[in-house]
Amino acid sequence: SVEQQLAYIRSTVTSIQDYPKPGIVFRDITSTLADAKALRLILDVMTERYQDQGLTQIAGIEARGFIFAAALADRLGCGMTLVRKKGKLPRAVHSQSYSLEYGNDTLELHQDALNRNDRVLLIDDLLATGGTMRAAADLVAHSGATVVEAAFLIELKSLPGRERIEQSGVPCYAICAYD
Ligand code: PRP
Ligand code: ADE
Repeated sequence: SVEQQLAYIRSTVTSIQDYPKPGIVFRDITSTLADAKALRLILDVMTERYQDQGLTQIAGIEARGFIFAAALADRLGCGMTLVRKKGKLPRAVHSQSYSLEYGNDTLELHQDALNRNDRVLLIDDLLATGGTMRAAADLVAHSGATVVEAAFLIELKSLPGRERIEQSGVPCYAICAYD
């Protein structure tokens, strides 16, 4: 069943106490990526959800979002768009700053990466405060494209990430949730 598939995927995530600092439980997906069955199931679940949505581009967020975005783009017959940390894209960009726990960072998107005819799925590995995805969604919206949904492997429910994304009118979907 789908419930068993989701439980299997969840069982492959490794939880590390007190990384990168005391009080944080780090949800490590390297063990999930290394598990051939889990990796295939993740893509099966996402393909089923998005195959009839008329998507044109899958936008991956640096760095771990790229992994899922590339594989899903291939499955769905879409192109892949890179949302990168500042200074990495060589041509004219749109930029959006966002707040981190300490300080700020900036995401960028090539100005010609998307247009108003694009229907875009945004994808990242994990939703925490939502700052990263909110900035990425704002960039895609600024390009004139339609943001169909923001998808994650993991959602941390103790943080208001989902609210922050949905406030901007973008639905959220996550395969696994943790308190
Ligand atoms: C992690 C994760 C998300 C983001 C989530 O990336 O992969 O992109 O944090 O946090 P938020 O919801 O609070 O914004 P990180 O910034 O560590 O970058 P990396 O993928 O390049 O390691
Ligand atoms: N990014 C932000 N919070 C995280 C967590 N608890 N585990 C893994 N990546 C994260």
